[in-house]
Amino acid sequence: MPLVTSKDLFRKALAGRYAIGAFNVNNMEIIQGIVEGAVEERAPLILQFSAGARKYARHAYLMKLVEAAIETCDLPIVLHLDHGEDFEICRACIDGGFSSVMIDGSRHPFEENIAFTRKVVDYAHPRGVTVEAELGKLAGVEDDVAVSEKDAIFTNPDQAREFVERSGCDSLAVAIGTSHGAYKFKGEPRLDFERLAEIEGRLPGFPLVLHGASSVPQDLVEFCNRYGGEIRGSRGVPEEMIGRAAKMNVCKVNIDTDIRLAITGTIRKCFAENPSNFDPRLYLGPAREAIRGVVRRKIGVLGCGGRA
Ligand code: G3H
Ligand code: 13P
Ligand code: ZN
Repeated sequence: MPLVTSKDLFRKALAGRYAIGAFNVNNMEIIQGIVEGAVEERAPLILQFSAGARKYARHAYLMKLVEAAIETCDLPIVLHLDHGEDFEICRACIDGGFSSVMIDGSRHPFEENIAFTRKVVDYAHPRGVTVEAELGKLAGVEDDVAVSEKDAIFTNPDQAREFVERSGCDSLAVAIGTSHGAYKFKGEPRLDFERLAEIEGRLPGFPLVLHGASSVPQDLVEFCNRYGGEIRGSRGVPEEMIGRAAKMNVCKVNIDTDIRLAITGTIRKCFAENPSNFDPRLYLGPAREAIRGVVRRKIGVLGCGGRA
């Protein structure tokens, strides 16, 4: 099945009141683990590469990995650029075969973010590519840049409507309290569902996106720590909150950290339990299995199983 854009998938997700998992990919084992999990659950899938991931895997290789994925399974798959920071990287991905891009102008003032996004939309749409934009600013670490909680800016519902109308974007990432990385909340986890409902009210039937939505399951954190990791005080978005957002107009939920934790914990365990091993397949293979498990669990939370 060829790559699809997010348009049709989001339309169905809105109607069915579920969300689609957008999983970050960096290498072969990660893409295989994700795809295998989605195949088992019969879930539509968004595979996304950050600029850093694209640089790491290299464009030509990542395209072949994705090509292999679409050749070997019959799921609708979107290939998406995560957090494109400027027009040039979006253009490179559009020209290079991606079916969807994110232009992340969230660090710019409102008017500049609109202009920034519009330029990508004008390039993407005639080429059949969908565009995600972001309004508001998430806390957390992204591409090694840390945004503190006090610098995070929640999305303004009035501005959201104007932003979508003027930029022409196809979906909008909103800031309602999620953040990137493993340390999302200092105290009790809290998302601003009232704000989310207000945004929906201003943008009826419009697909919204949640970044920084990993749940940081404590069993995965403990797993890492048990085998020498030092991930202390981490906290993610509780699964019931993600499930609640998925029933609203949130159509895409981004997951990277949970996959990272599963890989790292598994590899640490393999190293600790079999120090004489030096065959990478004997730790990358189990890591791939662990990713499959994370993806299946997430699909259950998002409600997109059986929707492919
Ligand atoms: O939101 C960012 C994603 O977790 C990707 O992270 O830029 O380190 O690949 P990365
Ligand atoms: P997490 O760090 O919560 O997995 O978020 C990933 C993300 O938003 C990628 O764009
Ligand atoms: Zn993100």
